[in-house]
Amino acid sequence: MIKAQRGTKDILPEDILTWQHIEKTARELFQNANYKEIRTPIFEGTELFKRGVGDSTDIVNKEMYTFSVGGVNKDENSITLRPENTAGVVRAYIEHGFSRLSAPVKLWYFGPMFRYERPQKGRQRQFHQIGIEMFGVENPSADAEVISLAMKFLSKMGVLGLSAEINSLGCPKCRDEYKARIKEVLKPYLGELCEDCKVRYDKNPLRMLDCKDENCIKIFDDEKIKNVILSDFICEECKEHYENVKKYLDVLNISYSENKMLVRGLDYYNRTVFEIKSDALGSQSAVAGGGRYDGLVSMLGGEKTPAVGFALGVERLFELIKHKEIQKLDYFIVSNIQDVAIETVQMLRDKGFSADFDFQNRKFAKQMEKAGKIANKAVIIGEDEIKGKYYTVKNLTTGEQIKTETL
Ligand code: HAM
Repeated sequence: MIKAQRGTKDILPEDILTWQHIEKTARELFQNANYKEIRTPIFEGTELFKRGVGDSTDIVNKEMYTFSVGGVNKDENSITLRPENTAGVVRAYIEHGFSRLSAPVKLWYFGPMFRYERPQKGRQRQFHQIGIEMFGVENPSADAEVISLAMKFLSKMGVLGLSAEINSLGCPKCRDEYKARIKEVLKPYLGELCEDCKVRYDKNPLRMLDCKDENCIKIFDDEKIKNVILSDFICEECKEHYENVKKYLDVLNISYSENKMLVRGLDYYNRTVFEIKSDALGSQSAVAGGGRYDGLVSMLGGEKTPAVGFALGVERLFELIKHKEIQKLDYFIVSNIQDVAIETVQMLRDKGFSADFDFQNRKFAKQMEKAGKIANKAVIIGEDEIKGKYYTVKNLTTGEQIKTETL
């Protein structure tokens, strides 16, 4: 038997109502906050992610679905299924000259992403994200809006009691000094670090703080090292920005905690980063994450443009709200007079009702049983109804039955 690929899932009819509800809630909330939907292709040139997400990240190094397609120069034709959508949205922003529009340019999206990760609960190879990106505003009020919309969306979906974890990664200048200090204090332990961290040590030392290797975690827990990691390294301007983000979050009544170890798994961030986690999700606890990326637009060839955004994992959200409902039909026709049943179904559908009938013309009791399972009301049409020119309509929830000439 051919089965779905490891790490992919069919979204079945029993779950689709919840998915549609998630999408509808997102559309309403983001449109209400003046975000416009954007749909970008699911594959992009590989270079976009190497440069955009960063080639020292696990996403780019280990998790990309990359293909070489046709052509003589295979590298030029290398494409990758998008592992995330910020880079693609930035590419579209530059390509369509959105910097000409009056700032802020606010965009939202919903779609599948692809990461070649080891599948486990909450971690798939094809998963979906809902996200927003706001371009053109350096002011910390933009960071606060993005974090508050992520929280608002979760509360609208009925996920309550979550709090955001926030941190500031500073700007390239203050962060470089911080990286140098971390490298210095870790130098004597270099031989003991895991293979990944040995590479991160040179390429991107902050990423080490995200390491899940037990031995590395133990090393980082050493008091001397911890003091450096937890030190206040951000410069005055970054500090002021961060303080204001927190002030606006307080104004908006958003609960948050500060986590100095929060570095995120993508390279483009500066200043504010955040994640929203839920214990109910187990080890893959982050339901949403995001932050500020003021350098990405210019790094990908556009004008210098501040930007901030977040993305939320829809499968993880689904786990948190999980309520399976089958959408019931408005009417099910119960009749052994097939031509009348067909005609009545057509008439009801034309009027905008959802309706169906028993194609196999089974016994009355069987049809009634089916109606009870899949519809709100049964329209019964037997010899008496035909003779008397009326319908018998049974409300399948209350059991109430009426005679009516029109439906
Ligand atoms: P991210 O933290 O890599 O950020 O992903 C955002 C969310 O996508 C995660 O919090 C998680 O819920 C979900 N997710 C990620 N990987 C998987 C997976 N393998 N299976 C299931 N769910 C997953 C980004 O992607 C950034 N682009 C967010 C952003 C937007 N930053 C600024 N703007």
